[in-house]
Amino acid sequence: MSAQTARIAVVTGANKGIGREITRQLAERGHVVYLGARDAERGRATESELRADGLDVRFLHLDVTDEKSAELAARRLTEEAGLLHVLVNNAGVGGPMLPPSRTPAHQVRTVYETNVFGVVTVTNALLPLLHRAPSARIVNVSSAIGSLAAAAANLDPTGVHPPGEFPVMLSYATSKAALNAVTLTYANELRGTGILVNAASPGFVATDINGHHGTLTTEQGARIPVLLATLGDDGPTATFLGEDGTPQGQALQW
Ligand SMILES: NC(=O)c1ccc[n+]([C@@H]2O[C@H](COP(=O)([O-])OP(=O)(O)OC[C@H]3O[C@@H](n4cnc5c(N)ncnc54)[C@H](OP(=O)(O)O)[C@@H]3O)[C@@H](O)[C@H]2O)c1
Repeated sequence: MSAQTARIAVVTGANKGIGREITRQLAERGHVVYLGARDAERGRATESELRADGLDVRFLHLDVTDEKSAELAARRLTEEAGLLHVLVNNAGVGGPMLPPSRTPAHQVRTVYETNVFGVVTVTNALLPLLHRAPSARIVNVSSAIGSLAAAAANLDPTGVHPPGEFPVMLSYATSKAALNAVTLTYANELRGTGILVNAASPGFVATDINGHHGTLTTEQGARIPVLLATLGDDGPTATFLGEDGTPQGQALQW
């Protein structure tokens, strides 16, 4: 499929883990996928592996915490593709399993730099290209533990912790709650433009972020983000969808 007819996608943090698998699944569905990675060596290595499988995957240097890097990525996409159909904001960092009383503010700030401000930086840099596509999709890879409804009920939505024990993780959990609010705010601004904006919870997936303690494979974890990235024009916006093994996924409470 040529770049002229294929849908163009960008996936951030795509050199490993869930992002790598989202990249693979989108490319298998005929997208030309720009594989965002902050480290050129790691990005090119993953690009080579996926291209060896015959997939049209192109390494894109992109550190989501760096505005200049996002600007340069947007410039390259403008020159090579001229528009963008799919943006998956997947890059994320974990945080220590510490209660708020023992979490210094600088730790929270560091996690927010990637998980929240990075999404704003990349989305704003690429929005002009998304507007040029007839129907575009933005998927923010969040987490069920970003759910404020679950935090208020003190129930771990992932089922990893027993009832009455919502995970106490100030930086990571609240960064994903903030990301959910960011998702809704973009979705509302972009209503009626053809750009659908949704948040995905991939499930508890075995990757580096959790020391591979997750119970799902990256193939399973990529399913909901890919489903939201490939929604039809009648698809929803401003939804929070999680992995529950059903074909349509589980609508999660914000
Ligand atoms: N695994 C789970 O159970 C789970 C559950 C819920 C949500 N999530 C979310 O899923 C997403 C992917 O996580 P994962 O599980 O696949 O973890 P992972 O294997 O650690 O992958 C994280 C990816 O993000 C990249 N990244 C981090 N900071 C970046 C930056 N400043 N600029 C560009 N890329 C950056 C990493 O690149 P480097 O290799 O350069 O570090 C890596 O490619 C994250 O948003 C995470 O919060 C994961």
